[in-house]
Amino acid sequence: MRILRYSAALALLGGCCFAQAPRAEIAFNSDWKFYRGDVEGASAEQFADGSWQAVTLPHTWNAEDALPGDKMYQGPGWYRKEFPSPNEWRGRRVFLRFGAASLAADVYLNGNKLGSHEGGFAAFCFEITRYLHFDAQNALAVRVDNRRGTISPLGGDFTIYGGLYRPVTLILTGSLAITPLDYAGPGVYLRQVSASLDSAEVEVTTKVTNSSNTTRFYIAQVTVLDERNKTINVQRASGAVSSLGTQVLKESIGIRHPRLWNGAKDPYVYTARVDLIEKGKRMDTVEQPLGVRDFHVDPQRGGILNGQPIRLQGVCLHQEGPNGWAVSEKDEDADMATMREMGANAVRLVHYQHSPHFLTLCDRYGVIAWSELALVNNVHYTDEFRQNVRQQLVEMIRQNFNHPSIFMWSMYNEIGSRTEHPAEMVKELVDLAHEEDPSRPTTGAASGDTMANLPNAINVLDLISLNIYDGWYGGKPEDLGADLDKYNQKYGSKGASLSEYGAGASVKQHQQGMTQPPNPNGRFHPEEWQDIQHETQLPIVEARPYMWGSFLWVMFDFGSAGRHEGDTDGINDKGLVTRDRSVKKDAFYYYKANWNPEAMVYITSRRDDQRTSPATAIKVYSNCEKITLKINGKSLGELTKKADRVYVRDNVTLSDGANLVEAEGSLDGKIARDACNWTYKPAAAKGN
Ligand code: GCU
Repeated sequence: MRILRYSAALALLGGCCFAQAPRAEIAFNSDWKFYRGDVEGASAEQFADGSWQAVTLPHTWNAEDALPGDKMYQGPGWYRKEFPSPNEWRGRRVFLRFGAASLAADVYLNGNKLGSHEGGFAAFCFEITRYLHFDAQNALAVRVDNRRGTISPLGGDFTIYGGLYRPVTLILTGSLAITPLDYAGPGVYLRQVSASLDSAEVEVTTKVTNSSNTTRFYIAQVTVLDERNKTINVQRASGAVSSLGTQVLKESIGIRHPRLWNGAKDPYVYTARVDLIEKGKRMDTVEQPLGVRDFHVDPQRGGILNGQPIRLQGVCLHQEGPNGWAVSEKDEDADMATMREMGANAVRLVHYQHSPHFLTLCDRYGVIAWSELALVNNVHYTDEFRQNVRQQLVEMIRQNFNHPSIFMWSMYNEIGSRTEHPAEMVKELVDLAHEEDPSRPTTGAASGDTMANLPNAINVLDLISLNIYDGWYGGKPEDLGADLDKYNQKYGSKGASLSEYGAGASVKQHQQGMTQPPNPNGRFHPEEWQDIQHETQLPIVEARPYMWGSFLWVMFDFGSAGRHEGDTDGINDKGLVTRDRSVKKDAFYYYKANWNPEAMVYITSRRDDQRTSPATAIKVYSNCEKITLKINGKSLGELTKKADRVYVRDNVTLSDGANLVEAEGSLDGKIARDACNWTYKPAAAKGN
């Protein structure tokens, strides 16, 4: 819509606009054929794939066998797709951009190898112009393989789903274009040079490619538009790109009195549009989000966003849903809505580069994002591995450079001291990240082993982050405070984030009055312990001003092949919501009571609804002040405030049979209520 209006304007100005839209991006996700296994000759132009399974992307071949995971298929799979080359493609450049392929891909067109990509989480792009048939169908063939092999991540407590699990796009451009081949990045990069309420200055880097055999002279016109499409400013720079060459053109554009991107309070996103204009004709256009903001960490005050302290109230998120990694944008929209209902204002996108759509949601809703390189536990310090990890880092940064929601780049998760040259690897990556993007700090999530044994894999980072499971994998939940203080001090009192903490919970398993954690590797993960863990540890973090944020582990249960604990094999059950998204666990509401200002009341242990003892305590999460309780319609008066947002009544006696439990509170005049049913049936007497 915007491009058409712009072309019309250009025509009126006497400039003749491009006959066709200069750039077309076509979804390429339907009518694929899939075969699980390796197949001789499947890359050829002519191949009988009629018996293969018809699939639509995003697709994973582990949607069904990932749970319990022991027998999930890991190996090669083939995809093929036949398509014509319409006439309007003649004379244009044609590219294929894959959103991701797990973990490695080899791509062929009409029997010609276009290239390979190693790394399961970044987009990659090949030009296919020279191999296209215009008088016959084209045959695209992709071999994907999800065995870890030598590709990072070599370790990690999560299932590696195989397949083309993100969308594929076909891109058409003219012979003078903004390149789609810069590590599959947008080819336009917006680096904030300065930002204040008075003005902002943005350096715009445009990478221009010329496939013709003459030098091309052009203008790169940058237009900043506000959210209502109003032009805020326009800047032009002239460039010349040699035949078959690429040119990097930089120019700066100012924004007077910018509306800052201010997290969930005001996530204001401008649009920066770059038009390539040659002899008055628009040859290409790329639009990118532009958010103006300033974030840094103050060792004493924590996170500072646009001059104001902000605590990152975060969650860790894997990219997986009920269909494994083949999540749809609708799935991601729903997950973002759940996170926002809970009141999270930050998300740690764990252990690998996540989808562009989810980052767009973070931009739009003001959720601060921690983007993480897929370097987990182990380093294989060979040239091949290091080259691949560096490639994955450059891909992550360039492909996501313009998302205002990304505040930091994480170099690793839980680098192990027994791996090869961990500190050297991290130093190399931090230097590369600073080169690629001087505007964002680096961090990394350190395990106890990393904290204790690898000071140089932590000291080299700009921000310190700690994964601590006191109270789950040993120790007590309340040990967290001393550990945070110890490590913050050990690493120079630069401030820290708690990048992981939490406990497992089955919504089918319950135990009242717990004082000790269950066996973390056992089959019994009562929901009530997860409540205790989070009730104890969030206040510990919030009592420490040097903590710039916390990221609870984990928003949703997720697949982890090889785990045999809790109520389901192959699942890591530390989520606050079940993997199928059907149940928000008690602890979800503890955070909602703390982070969402809307009046709420929630009775915990609602699912422990078959009682064999009449005596019980009742615990309610609420952000209201006076919480009153009724059992079977009889008022029990006000609950006692045990801690912030936690209200209790001990020694309640249930009646035989059904018991209706009701709680009510009010906040700013708004009434909030909750109710649940518990059935008390005395345990059958022994012996009869
Ligand atoms: C580790 C790790 C996570 C893992 C979690 C757990 O710290 O970073 O990937 O899932 O702990 O044990 O649940």
